[in-house]
Amino acid sequence: MFEKMLVLGIESSCDETGVALVDASGTGVPRLLSHALFSQIAMHQPFGGVVPELASRDHIRRVLPLTQEVMQSAQRTLADVDVVAYTRGPGLAGALLVGAGVACSLAAALGKPAMGVHHLEGHLLSPFLSADPPEFPFVALLVSGGHTQLMRVDSVGSYELLGETIDDAAGEAFDKSAKLMGMPYPGGPHLAKLALEGDGAAFKLPRPLLHSGNLDFSFAGLKTAVLTQAKKLGDDLESRKADLAASTQAAIVDVLVKKTLAALSQTALKRLVVAGGVGANALLRSQLNAACRQRGIRVHYPELAFCTDNGAMIAMAAGMRLQAGLVDLQGLQGSYTFDVKPRWNLSEFQPRPVPMG
Ligand code: KG4
Ligand code: ZN
Repeated sequence: MFEKMLVLGIESSCDETGVALVDASGTGVPRLLSHALFSQIAMHQPFGGVVPELASRDHIRRVLPLTQEVMQSAQRTLADVDVVAYTRGPGLAGALLVGAGVACSLAAALGKPAMGVHHLEGHLLSPFLSADPPEFPFVALLVSGGHTQLMRVDSVGSYELLGETIDDAAGEAFDKSAKLMGMPYPGGPHLAKLALEGDGAAFKLPRPLLHSGNLDFSFAGLKTAVLTQAKKLGDDLESRKADLAASTQAAIVDVLVKKTLAALSQTALKRLVVAGGVGANALLRSQLNAACRQRGIRVHYPELAFCTDNGAMIAMAAGMRLQAGLVDLQGLQGSYTFDVKPRWNLSEFQPRPVPMG
Protein backbone atom coordinates (compact mmCIF):
# COMPACT_ATOMS: atom_id res chain seq x y z
CA MET A 1 0.00 0.00 0.00
CA PHE A 2 1.25 3.48 -0.85
CA GLU A 3 0.48 6.44 1.40
CA LYS A 4 0.70 8.68 -1.62
CA MET A 5 0.70 7.47 -5.22
CA LEU A 6 -0.25 9.84 -8.03
CA VAL A 7 0.06 8.23 -11.46
CA LEU A 8 0.21 10.21 -14.67
CA GLY A 9 -0.81 8.06 -17.67
CA ILE A 10 -0.05 8.75 -21.34
CA GLU A 11 -1.72 6.90 -24.24
CA SER A 12 -0.47 7.34 -27.81
CA SER A 13 -0.72 3.90 -29.44
CA CYS A 14 -2.91 4.84 -32.40
CA ASP A 15 -5.03 7.87 -33.33
CA GLU A 16 -5.92 9.26 -29.91
CA THR A 17 -3.64 11.19 -27.57
CA GLY A 18 -4.86 10.64 -24.01
CA VAL A 19 -3.46 11.87 -20.70
CA ALA A 20 -4.86 11.28 -17.22
CA LEU A 21 -4.03 11.56 -13.54
CA VAL A 22 -5.08 8.78 -11.15
CA ASP A 23 -4.74 8.62 -7.36
CA ALA A 24 -3.67 5.10 -6.37
CA SER A 25 -2.92 5.92 -2.72
CA GLY A 26 -4.25 3.47 -0.14
CA THR A 27 -6.01 0.22 -0.94
CA GLY A 28 -9.26 1.27 -2.67
CA VAL A 29 -9.79 1.22 -6.42
CA PRO A 30 -7.59 4.03 -7.86
CA ARG A 31 -9.50 7.28 -8.35
CA LEU A 32 -9.49 9.25 -11.58
CA LEU A 33 -8.64 12.89 -10.82
CA SER A 34 -8.73 14.25 -14.37
CA HIS A 35 -8.22 13.28 -17.97
CA ALA A 36 -7.92 14.87 -21.40
CA LEU A 37 -8.14 13.45 -24.88
CA PHE A 38 -7.47 14.58 -28.42
CA SER A 39 -8.86 12.44 -31.22
CA GLN A 40 -7.14 12.52 -34.62
CA ILE A 41 -10.12 11.00 -36.43
CA ALA A 42 -10.87 14.16 -38.43
CA MET A 43 -7.23 14.37 -39.56
CA HIS A 44 -7.15 10.76 -40.84
CA GLN A 45 -10.65 10.73 -42.34
CA PRO A 46 -9.69 12.03 -45.82
CA PHE A 47 -7.26 9.09 -46.12
CA GLY A 48 -9.85 6.43 -45.19
CA GLY A 49 -7.71 5.12 -42.32
CA VAL A 50 -4.90 5.98 -39.90
CA VAL A 51 -1.74 7.36 -41.52
CA PRO A 52 0.99 6.32 -39.04
CA GLU A 53 3.43 9.17 -39.74
CA LEU A 54 0.70 11.80 -39.36
CA ALA A 55 -0.43 10.10 -36.14
CA SER A 56 3.08 10.31 -34.63
CA ARG A 57 3.51 13.96 -35.57
CA ASP A 58 0.16 14.89 -34.08
CA HIS A 59 0.88 13.04 -30.81
CA ILE A 60 4.02 15.23 -30.52
CA ARG A 61 1.87 18.37 -30.89
CA ARG A 62 -0.79 17.29 -28.38
CA VAL A 63 0.84 15.42 -25.55
CA LEU A 64 2.37 18.27 -23.51
CA PRO A 65 -0.60 20.70 -23.79
CA LEU A 66 -2.91 17.83 -22.75
CA THR A 67 -0.62 17.06 -19.79
CA GLN A 68 -0.79 20.71 -18.70
CA GLU A 69 -4.58 20.63 -19.04
CA VAL A 70 -4.81 17.50 -16.86
CA MET A 71 -2.56 18.93 -14.14
CA GLN A 72 -4.49 22.18 -14.10
CA SER A 73 -7.92 20.61 -13.87
CA ALA A 74 -6.72 18.27 -11.09
CA GLN A 75 -5.18 21.32 -9.38
CA ARG A 76 -1.84 19.54 -9.02
CA THR A 77 1.63 20.23 -10.35
CA LEU A 78 3.99 17.82 -12.09
CA ALA A 79 6.07 17.79 -8.90
CA ASP A 80 3.15 15.92 -7.25
CA VAL A 81 3.38 13.02 -9.73
CA ASP A 82 4.92 9.82 -8.28
CA VAL A 83 5.02 7.61 -11.40
CA VAL A 84 4.75 8.41 -15.12
CA ALA A 85 3.03 5.57 -16.99
CA TYR A 86 2.82 5.21 -20.77
CA THR A 87 1.49 2.74 -23.32
CA ARG A 88 4.44 0.55 -24.31
CA GLY A 89 2.45 -1.51 -26.83
CA PRO A 90 0.82 -2.92 -28.83
CA GLY A 91 0.21 -0.21 -31.42
CA LEU A 92 1.91 1.85 -34.12
CA ALA A 93 5.66 1.95 -33.45
CA GLY A 94 6.15 5.66 -34.20
CA ALA A 95 3.06 6.68 -32.24
CA LEU A 96 4.11 4.58 -29.23
CA LEU A 97 7.60 6.10 -29.34
CA VAL A 98 6.17 9.59 -28.87
CA GLY A 99 4.34 8.66 -25.64
CA ALA A 100 7.24 6.57 -24.36
CA GLY A 101 9.79 9.29 -25.15
CA VAL A 102 7.78 12.06 -23.52
CA ALA A 103 6.90 9.92 -20.46
CA CYS A 104 10.51 8.89 -19.87
CA SER A 105 11.81 12.43 -20.36
CA LEU A 106 9.23 13.81 -17.94
CA ALA A 107 10.02 11.10 -15.40
CA ALA A 108 13.77 11.77 -15.73
CA ALA A 109 13.22 15.51 -15.27
CA LEU A 110 11.08 14.87 -12.18
CA GLY A 111 13.38 12.18 -10.78
CA LYS A 112 10.45 9.72 -10.66
CA PRO A 113 10.08 6.24 -12.20
CA ALA A 114 8.59 5.69 -15.66
CA MET A 115 6.47 2.60 -16.24
CA GLY A 116 5.37 0.90 -19.49
CA VAL A 117 1.75 -0.32 -19.64
CA HIS A 118 0.11 -2.89 -21.93
CA HIS A 119 -2.62 -1.17 -23.97
CA LEU A 120 -4.97 -4.17 -23.74
CA GLU A 121 -4.57 -4.35 -19.98
CA GLY A 122 -5.72 -0.73 -20.02
CA HIS A 123 -8.86 -1.71 -21.97
CA LEU A 124 -9.44 -4.75 -19.71
CA LEU A 125 -9.29 -2.67 -16.53
CA SER A 126 -11.19 0.34 -17.94
CA PRO A 127 -14.50 -0.71 -16.27
CA PHE A 128 -12.76 0.00 -12.94
CA LEU A 129 -13.06 3.69 -13.89
CA SER A 130 -16.83 3.47 -13.48
CA ALA A 131 -18.82 4.11 -10.31
CA ASP A 132 -19.74 0.42 -10.02
CA PRO A 133 -16.48 -1.45 -10.73
CA PRO A 134 -16.46 -5.25 -11.26
CA GLU A 135 -15.02 -7.78 -8.86
CA PHE A 136 -12.56 -10.51 -9.85
CA PRO A 137 -12.72 -13.10 -11.36
CA PHE A 138 -14.50 -12.37 -14.66
CA VAL A 139 -14.61 -13.23 -18.34
CA ALA A 140 -13.53 -10.31 -20.52
CA LEU A 141 -14.62 -9.73 -24.08
CA LEU A 142 -12.08 -7.36 -25.57
CA VAL A 143 -13.35 -5.94 -28.83
CA SER A 144 -11.38 -3.11 -30.39
CA GLY A 145 -10.19 -2.00 -33.80
CA GLY A 146 -7.12 -4.21 -33.54
CA HIS A 147 -8.14 -7.05 -31.20
CA THR A 148 -10.92 -9.51 -30.52
CA GLN A 149 -10.20 -11.70 -27.53
CA LEU A 150 -11.98 -13.61 -24.80
CA MET A 151 -9.98 -13.79 -21.59
CA ARG A 152 -10.34 -15.21 -18.13
CA VAL A 153 -9.23 -12.58 -15.63
CA ASP A 154 -8.56 -13.81 -12.10
CA SER A 155 -6.80 -10.76 -10.72
CA VAL A 156 -4.72 -7.81 -11.88
CA GLY A 157 -1.95 -9.32 -14.01
CA SER A 158 -3.55 -12.77 -14.32
CA TYR A 159 -4.94 -13.10 -17.83
CA GLU A 160 -5.69 -16.37 -19.57
CA LEU A 161 -6.49 -16.21 -23.27
CA LEU A 162 -9.58 -18.32 -24.02
CA GLY A 163 -9.99 -17.46 -27.70
CA GLU A 164 -9.19 -14.76 -30.23
CA THR A 165 -9.67 -13.80 -33.85
CA ILE A 166 -7.62 -15.71 -36.37
CA ASP A 167 -7.82 -12.84 -38.88
CA ASP A 168 -9.67 -9.50 -38.72
CA ALA A 169 -10.77 -7.94 -35.44
CA ALA A 170 -14.47 -7.17 -34.82
CA GLY A 171 -13.80 -3.42 -35.13
CA GLU A 172 -11.97 -4.06 -38.37
CA ALA A 173 -14.98 -6.02 -39.67
CA PHE A 174 -17.21 -3.04 -38.83
CA ASP A 175 -14.77 -0.55 -40.37
CA LYS A 176 -14.00 -2.49 -43.56
CA SER A 177 -17.68 -3.29 -44.23
CA ALA A 178 -18.59 0.35 -43.63
CA LYS A 179 -15.86 1.47 -46.03
CA LEU A 180 -17.23 -0.87 -48.72
CA MET A 181 -20.57 0.87 -48.26
CA GLY A 182 -18.93 4.29 -48.71
CA MET A 183 -18.91 5.42 -45.07
CA PRO A 184 -16.10 7.56 -43.57
CA TYR A 185 -13.37 6.22 -41.25
CA PRO A 186 -13.81 4.78 -38.65
CA GLY A 187 -16.95 3.20 -40.01
CA GLY A 188 -18.11 1.25 -36.93
CA PRO A 189 -20.24 3.98 -35.34
CA HIS A 190 -21.57 5.12 -38.78
CA LEU A 191 -22.57 1.58 -39.70
CA ALA A 192 -24.24 1.12 -36.30
CA LYS A 193 -26.20 4.35 -36.77
CA LEU A 194 -27.44 3.45 -40.25
CA ALA A 195 -28.29 -0.08 -39.06
CA LEU A 196 -30.95 1.43 -36.78
CA GLU A 197 -33.02 2.13 -39.92
CA GLY A 198 -32.50 -1.31 -41.47
CA ASP A 199 -33.60 -4.93 -41.11
CA GLY A 200 -30.90 -7.18 -39.65
CA ALA A 201 -32.46 -10.24 -41.27
CA ALA A 202 -32.65 -8.73 -44.77
CA PHE A 203 -29.44 -10.38 -46.02
CA LYS A 204 -28.12 -13.76 -44.99
CA LEU A 205 -24.47 -13.18 -44.10
CA PRO A 206 -22.04 -15.82 -42.79
CA ARG A 207 -21.33 -16.32 -39.08
CA PRO A 208 -17.73 -17.62 -39.38
CA LEU A 209 -16.54 -20.19 -36.81
CA LEU A 210 -19.89 -20.02 -34.98
CA HIS A 211 -19.94 -23.79 -34.60
CA SER A 212 -16.17 -24.33 -34.47
CA GLY A 213 -16.37 -25.78 -30.96
CA ASN A 214 -13.71 -23.39 -29.67
CA LEU A 215 -13.69 -19.73 -28.67
CA ASP A 216 -11.85 -18.36 -31.71
CA PHE A 217 -13.31 -15.83 -34.14
CA SER A 218 -12.88 -15.12 -37.85
CA PHE A 219 -14.25 -12.01 -39.54
CA ALA A 220 -12.35 -11.82 -42.84
CA GLY A 221 -14.95 -13.89 -44.72
CA LEU A 222 -17.76 -11.60 -43.59
CA LYS A 223 -16.15 -8.59 -45.25
CA THR A 224 -15.91 -10.58 -48.53
CA ALA A 225 -19.58 -11.58 -48.23
CA VAL A 226 -20.56 -7.94 -47.70
CA LEU A 227 -18.55 -6.97 -50.80
CA THR A 228 -20.23 -9.69 -52.87
CA GLN A 229 -23.66 -8.57 -51.68
CA ALA A 230 -22.88 -4.91 -52.38
CA LYS A 231 -21.77 -5.78 -55.93
CA LYS A 232 -24.89 -7.89 -56.47
CA LEU A 233 -27.07 -4.96 -55.40
CA GLY A 234 -25.33 -2.62 -57.87
CA ASP A 235 -27.45 0.50 -58.30
CA ASP A 236 -29.83 -0.70 -55.59
CA LEU A 237 -27.08 -0.51 -52.94
CA GLU A 238 -28.00 3.04 -51.98
CA SER A 239 -31.64 2.18 -51.24
CA ARG A 240 -30.75 -1.08 -49.43
CA LYS A 241 -27.72 0.24 -47.52
CA ALA A 242 -29.48 0.39 -44.17
CA ASP A 243 -30.55 -3.27 -44.55
CA LEU A 244 -27.03 -4.33 -45.50
CA ALA A 245 -25.57 -2.37 -42.55
CA ALA A 246 -28.09 -3.93 -40.16
CA SER A 247 -27.39 -7.44 -41.51
CA THR A 248 -23.61 -6.92 -41.17
CA GLN A 249 -23.97 -5.68 -37.61
CA ALA A 250 -26.31 -8.58 -36.77
CA ALA A 251 -23.75 -11.12 -38.05
CA ILE A 252 -20.83 -9.61 -36.09
CA VAL A 253 -22.86 -9.21 -32.89
CA ASP A 254 -24.37 -12.70 -33.18
CA VAL A 255 -20.91 -14.33 -33.23
CA LEU A 256 -19.58 -12.11 -30.42
CA VAL A 257 -22.56 -12.88 -28.19
CA LYS A 258 -22.63 -16.65 -28.79
CA LYS A 259 -18.88 -17.07 -28.23
CA THR A 260 -19.00 -14.92 -25.10
CA LEU A 261 -21.83 -17.04 -23.67
CA ALA A 262 -19.81 -20.16 -24.49
CA ALA A 263 -16.81 -18.69 -22.61
CA LEU A 264 -19.03 -17.94 -19.62
CA SER A 265 -20.40 -21.48 -19.47
CA GLN A 266 -16.96 -23.01 -20.06
CA THR A 267 -15.43 -21.08 -17.15
CA ALA A 268 -18.63 -21.19 -15.02
CA LEU A 269 -17.96 -17.54 -14.14
CA LYS A 270 -20.91 -15.26 -13.38
CA ARG A 271 -19.35 -11.94 -14.33
CA LEU A 272 -18.58 -10.42 -17.72
CA VAL A 273 -16.55 -7.35 -18.62
CA VAL A 274 -16.86 -5.90 -22.13
CA ALA A 275 -14.11 -3.51 -23.18
CA GLY A 276 -12.72 -1.82 -26.31
CA GLY A 277 -14.29 0.43 -28.94
CA VAL A 278 -16.86 -2.09 -30.22
CA GLY A 279 -18.09 -2.36 -26.61
CA ALA A 280 -19.86 0.94 -27.35
CA ASN A 281 -22.12 -0.84 -29.87
CA ALA A 282 -25.75 -0.61 -28.72
CA LEU A 283 -26.92 -3.88 -30.31
CA LEU A 284 -24.02 -5.80 -28.73
CA ARG A 285 -24.87 -4.28 -25.35
CA SER A 286 -28.59 -5.02 -25.56
CA GLN A 287 -28.09 -8.62 -26.72
CA LEU A 288 -25.44 -9.34 -24.09
CA ASN A 289 -27.55 -7.70 -21.38
CA ALA A 290 -30.62 -9.78 -22.29
CA ALA A 291 -28.70 -13.08 -22.53
CA CYS A 292 -26.79 -12.45 -19.29
CA ARG A 293 -29.89 -11.39 -17.38
CA GLN A 294 -31.48 -14.75 -18.25
CA ARG A 295 -28.40 -16.58 -16.95
CA GLY A 296 -27.87 -14.55 -13.78
CA ILE A 297 -24.63 -13.02 -15.07
CA ARG A 298 -23.53 -9.46 -14.20
CA VAL A 299 -22.20 -7.44 -17.13
CA HIS A 300 -19.85 -4.49 -16.72
CA TYR A 301 -18.96 -1.95 -19.40
CA PRO A 302 -16.58 0.98 -19.26
CA GLU A 303 -18.28 4.35 -19.48
CA LEU A 304 -18.79 5.23 -23.15
CA ALA A 305 -15.97 7.80 -23.03
CA PHE A 306 -13.55 5.08 -21.88
CA CYS A 307 -14.54 2.40 -24.44
CA THR A 308 -12.26 3.80 -27.12
CA ASP A 309 -8.60 4.67 -26.48
CA ASN A 310 -7.91 7.08 -23.63
CA GLY A 311 -5.27 7.99 -21.04
CA ALA A 312 -7.45 7.19 -18.02
CA MET A 313 -7.33 3.44 -18.66
CA ILE A 314 -3.52 3.56 -18.90
CA ALA A 315 -3.15 5.48 -15.62
CA MET A 316 -5.72 3.11 -14.05
CA ALA A 317 -3.91 -0.06 -15.20
CA ALA A 318 -0.63 1.35 -13.87
CA GLY A 319 -2.27 2.28 -10.55
CA MET A 320 -3.87 -1.14 -10.11
CA ARG A 321 -0.62 -2.90 -11.02
CA LEU A 322 1.27 -0.79 -8.47
CA GLN A 323 -1.32 -1.48 -5.76
CA ALA A 324 -1.17 -5.20 -6.49
CA GLY A 325 2.59 -5.17 -5.85
CA LEU A 326 3.41 -6.22 -9.41
CA VAL A 327 5.82 -3.37 -10.11
CA ASP A 328 9.45 -3.15 -9.04
CA LEU A 329 9.46 0.63 -8.51
CA GLN A 330 12.99 0.67 -7.12
CA GLY A 331 14.17 -1.21 -10.17
CA LEU A 332 12.52 1.37 -12.43
CA GLN A 333 13.90 4.35 -10.52
CA GLY A 334 16.64 6.10 -12.50
CA SER A 335 16.24 3.85 -15.54
CA TYR A 336 15.00 5.89 -18.46
CA THR A 337 15.99 3.81 -21.44
CA PHE A 338 12.88 2.59 -23.20
CA ASP A 339 11.63 0.47 -26.03
CA VAL A 340 8.15 -0.02 -27.45
CA LYS A 341 6.38 -3.23 -28.39
CA PRO A 342 4.19 -2.73 -31.49
CA ARG A 343 3.21 -6.43 -31.22
CA TRP A 344 2.71 -7.65 -27.67
CA ASN A 345 0.63 -10.58 -26.47
CA LEU A 346 -1.17 -9.82 -23.19
CA SER A 347 -1.25 -13.43 -22.01
CA GLU A 348 2.58 -13.41 -22.12
CA PHE A 349 2.67 -10.23 -20.05
CA GLN A 350 2.32 -11.61 -16.53
CA PRO A 351 5.25 -10.52 -14.38
CA ARG A 352 5.30 -12.09 -10.93
CA PRO A 353 4.71 -9.96 -7.84
CA VAL A 354 7.83 -8.22 -6.58
CA PRO A 355 8.75 -7.56 -2.94
CA MET A 356 7.73 -4.04 -1.98
CA GLY A 357 10.69 -1.96 -0.84
O1 KG4 B 1 -10.56 0.39 -28.72
P1 KG4 B 1 -10.47 1.26 -29.90
O2 KG4 B 1 -10.55 2.75 -29.69
O3 KG4 B 1 -9.18 1.07 -30.72
C1 KG4 B 1 -8.25 0.07 -30.67
O4 KG4 B 1 -7.53 -0.06 -29.66
O5 KG4 B 1 -8.20 -0.64 -31.70
O6 KG4 B 1 -11.63 0.79 -30.90
C2 KG4 B 1 -11.90 1.41 -32.11
C3 KG4 B 1 -12.86 0.54 -32.88
C4 KG4 B 1 -13.06 0.99 -34.32
O7 KG4 B 1 -12.96 -0.14 -35.16
C5 KG4 B 1 -14.49 1.55 -34.32
O8 KG4 B 1 -15.14 1.46 -35.56
C6 KG4 B 1 -15.14 0.67 -33.29
O9 KG4 B 1 -14.15 0.54 -32.27
N1 KG4 B 1 -16.38 1.26 -32.75
C7 KG4 B 1 -17.61 0.75 -32.96
C8 KG4 B 1 -18.53 1.60 -32.30
N2 KG4 B 1 -17.81 2.61 -31.70
C9 KG4 B 1 -16.49 2.38 -31.98
N3 KG4 B 1 -18.00 -0.35 -33.63
C10 KG4 B 1 -19.32 -0.62 -33.67
N4 KG4 B 1 -20.26 0.15 -33.07
C11 KG4 B 1 -19.92 1.26 -32.37
N5 KG4 B 1 -20.86 2.01 -31.78
ZN1 ZN C 1 -7.43 0.42 -27.95
